[in-house]
Amino acid sequence: MKLGPATKGSSASLEQHHSEIEEELKKSFEGHELPFYNLLRYHLGWVDPEGKPTQAVKGKSLRAILCLLAGEAVGGNPQEILPAAAALELLHNFTLIHDDVQDEDLERRHRPTVWAIWGKPQAINAGDALHTLAALTVLRLREKDISAEKVIRALQILEESCLKLIEGQYLDLIFEERLDIRVEAYLKMVERKTAALFEGAAWMGASLGTDDEELVTALRGYGKELGLAFQIRDDILGIWGSEEKTGKKPRADIRRRKKTLPVIHALERSGELRQLYQKKELQEEEVNLAVEILERCGSREFAQELAQEHCHQALARLAEFPLRKSPKESLKELALFSAKRDF
Ligand code: IPE
Ligand code: IPE
Ligand code: MG
Ligand code: MG
Repeated sequence: MKLGPATKGSSASLEQHHSEIEEELKKSFEGHELPFYNLLRYHLGWVDPEGKPTQAVKGKSLRAILCLLAGEAVGGNPQEILPAAAALELLHNFTLIHDDVQDEDLERRHRPTVWAIWGKPQAINAGDALHTLAALTVLRLREKDISAEKVIRALQILEESCLKLIEGQYLDLIFEERLDIRVEAYLKMVERKTAALFEGAAWMGASLGTDDEELVTALRGYGKELGLAFQIRDDILGIWGSEEKTGKKPRADIRRRKKTLPVIHALERSGELRQLYQKKELQEEEVNLAVEILERCGSREFAQELAQEHCHQALARLAEFPLRKSPKESLKELALFSAKRDF
């Protein structure tokens, strides 16, 4: 897979599915020639802003990989599940395009965001189109040896997960204006904005691979816990990560007063931070001061411990039932990566 220097350190077994996922994704664009689709192709890292092919840093495709591994772990055939994996990746990318509008972020994956180039109205269209392509891509499961009932179920899982994710985005935005957010409320928000799609990915893959509902439930639980660990780690990277690795402007979350886990922890302990967060948007020096306060409060360590805890919960769910050995090992690796990644 061509992900560039930013992905050094990710393991070979997690990367093995990348090229087949990309091939499946390309099928979703067949017959769609309007220049509009270049906005989508740009976001996926396939073309430059003029629509010329390029080798840009791409997404990690974790939700798609998770779907394939979950299906394989319960005895399914990953080749048959590929359209579901591609659909998850398309849906995820729709949410990123809209998320960058909502967060007013100018940079993602080392490049200007879609709205930074084409403006918010067209970014909304690009996101909507990816969502629609995701639903149509799930329906390609009909071309495999999968029952109509299972295809409908997969579509239902995709859209239910999406709805939860949007609820999470709603909460994330209203939390910007509040100072009274506790860890419990934060977890309810993250369960939606991020964990719902990881849970949905495991759920979809597993339900396509087996009829054993207990197994499907265990894998859903694994996906949800992994998603929580993943977002907590994302919160840490948003403050202490290196731009060279994450491809995103650091500390944008602090400037916007996002209620990330380290900030919630410090707000409960520091009157100085609560005072600082009375302002609508923080200036450079205030951002630096806020980070100093977080460090003094031990908020980074607190958040990392909680990420680790959810990673362990994810691993515990995997241990509950017999699963195929090789995909199970990869699922373990995926959980560990989510809690300690630096990109
Ligand atoms: C970014 O997800 C959005 C979050 C839920 C934090 P990823 O880090 O999986 O995004 P890409 O697709 O790999 O860029
Ligand atoms: C993550 O949003 C959830 C979604 C994109 C739906 P964030 O705003 O926390 O993620 P990044 O850091 O911009 O990728
Ligand atoms: Mg964002
Ligand atoms: Mg956001």
